[in-house]
Amino acid sequence: MDTLLAGTRMRRNRQSDWSRRLVRENNLTVDDLIWPIFLVDGENIRQSVPSMPDVVRLSVDEAVRDAEKAAKLNIPALALFPYTDPGLRDETGSEALNPENLTCRALRAIKAEGLNLGLMTDVALDPYTSHGHDGLMEGETILNDETVDQLCRQALVQAEAGSDVIAPSDMMDGRIGAIRQALDSQGHRGTQIMAYSAKYASAFYGPFRDAVGSSGTLVGDKRTYQMDPANTDEALREAELDIAEGADMVMVKPGMPYLDIVRRIKDEFQVPTYAYQVSGEYAMIKAAAGNGWLDGDKAMLESLLAFKRAGADGILTYFAPKVAEMLAAGK
Ligand code: PBG
Repeated sequence: MDTLLAGTRMRRNRQSDWSRRLVRENNLTVDDLIWPIFLVDGENIRQSVPSMPDVVRLSVDEAVRDAEKAAKLNIPALALFPYTDPGLRDETGSEALNPENLTCRALRAIKAEGLNLGLMTDVALDPYTSHGHDGLMEGETILNDETVDQLCRQALVQAEAGSDVIAPSDMMDGRIGAIRQALDSQGHRGTQIMAYSAKYASAFYGPFRDAVGSSGTLVGDKRTYQMDPANTDEALREAELDIAEGADMVMVKPGMPYLDIVRRIKDEFQVPTYAYQVSGEYAMIKAAAGNGWLDGDKAMLESLLAFKRAGADGILTYFAPKVAEMLAAGK
């Protein structure tokens, strides 16, 4: 059939700004944002991370300042990641269980402000281990069940310090159910769990490992616990297990190279589904923009909208403060 003769002209709806807005299927709003921040010991510190332009490690007092900024911008939640002093790292990541560790101190300090702001904390041992792995090691093996025991204790320490959302990023088997049980048994029934369900063994985490100081120390790689980038059915099984074990929300990570996984999980389970636009994705956009090779703001907004189109209910992104400011200004 000759569609032009039949009267169908796809460009008609695209003629003007108001019409494009009227037919727009997806929108990015501030409610979609989770802002990951990095913590460091000390006071009055805003230390830049060279591989992540405009991202800083914050001392606790500065983290409180940024939390106030997040609340003012209406960003729903922060995700906290510590740069642990190398002297405090050991084989078993024991600092993860210290109720006075950097993450716990930041949780308490921010919570004391009484902000309308969710605080999410990462459960995994890598910022605390001398070998940079997320779990306990025996020789070259990452021990599953022993690690899960330790992660339960880490989650409890964080919940007690005020974490609203426990986010296990370690990819051990069975950790969601075990952590749920541990939280419930200690009276933390309301503490939410966002499972890093489909977390891939990815090269895109490089700048993050610089930020938390684990890149230099990491022995080998994480392919015996993080997923093979070649797989997609396996991601559905991971999400299914996490949901069955009690996850309130599931996450896919990295983000942009894995939009197909976001879409499949959302379609299959209809649970709150998030994507993590990881450090390497952020670094790529910033590097290209810094060289004048693309328009950084436009690439940022387009990349975030793509997550919405793929079905994500929200995005963890280092662009969160920037994009929240732009959205507030009506851009
Ligand atoms: C640690 C963890 C990682 C990230 C979040 N939590 C790194 C890793 O698994 O090596 C990566 C986040 C990013 O790259 O922005 N378990």
